[in-house]
Amino acid sequence: MSHTRRNFFLLAGGAIAAAQDPKNMVVRAARPEDLEMPLSGFADYITPADHFFVRTHVYLPTVNISEWRLKVEGSVQTPLTLAMDDLRKMPAIELIAVTECAGNGRGFFNPHVPGLQWGYGGVANARWRGVRLAEVLKRAGVRESAVEVLFDGADDPIGTMQDFRRSIPLKKALHPDTILAYEMNGEAVPLKHGFPLRVVVPGWASDSWVKWCTSLNVLDKPWDGFWMKDAYRKPDHAVAPGTSLTPDQMVPVTSLRVKTVIASPTANWAKPGEPLRIAGVSWSGDAGPVTSVEVSTDAGRAWKPARLYPGQKTQYGWRQWEFSWTPEREAYYTIMARARDAAGNTQPFAQEWNPSGYGWNVVPSIGISVQAQAPAANPPAPPAHPEPPPNLRASCLQCHGTDVIEQQHLTRGQWNREITKMMNWGARVKPEDREPLLNYLSSAFGPK
Ligand code: HEC
Repeated sequence: MSHTRRNFFLLAGGAIAAAQDPKNMVVRAARPEDLEMPLSGFADYITPADHFFVRTHVYLPTVNISEWRLKVEGSVQTPLTLAMDDLRKMPAIELIAVTECAGNGRGFFNPHVPGLQWGYGGVANARWRGVRLAEVLKRAGVRESAVEVLFDGADDPIGTMQDFRRSIPLKKALHPDTILAYEMNGEAVPLKHGFPLRVVVPGWASDSWVKWCTSLNVLDKPWDGFWMKDAYRKPDHAVAPGTSLTPDQMVPVTSLRVKTVIASPTANWAKPGEPLRIAGVSWSGDAGPVTSVEVSTDAGRAWKPARLYPGQKTQYGWRQWEFSWTPEREAYYTIMARARDAAGNTQPFAQEWNPSGYGWNVVPSIGISVQAQAPAANPPAPPAHPEPPPNLRASCLQCHGTDVIEQQHLTRGQWNREITKMMNWGARVKPEDREPLLNYLSSAFGPK
């Protein structure tokens, strides 16, 4: 939705109550809410709703299901207005698919890039049920000239930022596995995850999985709104780290790439002669399901096959795997894991850098000290930050808290661009406040 600004400044200055989360989600931002699944979540094949990562650009909308309608309009013969009952009467389809934020793993990029500093847990695997998008489009009668379908949700933008709307090419929209889901894991899709209807684009990054969907607009030319033309883009070839690129030098983020997470062990110490269970999950995107996973315990010199869990062969879901290893000698070991997908793709050892930190899929590695005695705990010193300038609150904390700011590691130039970006979205920074603000941000939250 794009018409109201009712959220704007409503919550200004209010205390941020980060909900107590029973599942220990990592709070990347409290408001709008961004929650990351901890590594323990990879022990589940199907991710329960309260462990499913949350990525919201905006505050949660209020949805009244009796008034909710899905509009199908644009380049169609018969525009439609559908209630939930209409959708539930259509043939249902169910599938398991990985949902992964395009920026999952952004925190690992070097040089650092602005944005939520996700680790591994901006991803989930769930069972979706709904109707084929192709079925709904067939009832409306898509015209010959159509090229894309644009989705909009019940959410309102914050400040003067553009309404969150995303489009996908008609070919992907008509794919029999692209669905409008009203159920997640056997229940109505929870509000945080898009109630009452979420676009499910299996194999693609979740920026295309529009939540709270209220409108399908069939377009005759590609959508050129902010969230397609400026955001969620990356270069289609490798560029030198730190290169600055304009949006037209990049292409939209689409398919996920083959990727692995090592979820256990989580301790960095083990005893010699005792078996250790190395376990994790792997998935891919359009290139087909994962066909094998290999583990190395010597920093990538030798590789052995991991055991894939049986009964998890699906086109778009993840595969859990495990590998048992008994380190005999006292030493420091570097454990790695990598997957291969049906198209033969495997994972890189170094990532091509891109300005927004999308598509991280480097072979993960963890270090383990194998020794008889536990190493002495070495608690990290709390970071010493300079005092914030008095106008930080008025300039920067109207729409979100300090959390999104404190997780960044940006250069002065990057911070300067962030301030401009925020002013374009409605932040009011007095000219005389800008320099002290920039000094503070770049000295407190500079590159690591
Ligand atoms: C008018 C509302 C508003 C104000 C005021 C505001 N921001 Fe933001 N800020 C946003 C929104 C919206 C996002 C993105 C939320 C999302 O996409 O999850 C954001 C995200 C961020 C991020 C995460 C990185 C990114 O670019 O998405 C940083 C860092 C940030 N803001 C810093 C600041 C600073 C510094 C100020 C003060 C100069 C400020 N913000 C003032 C609305 C605002």
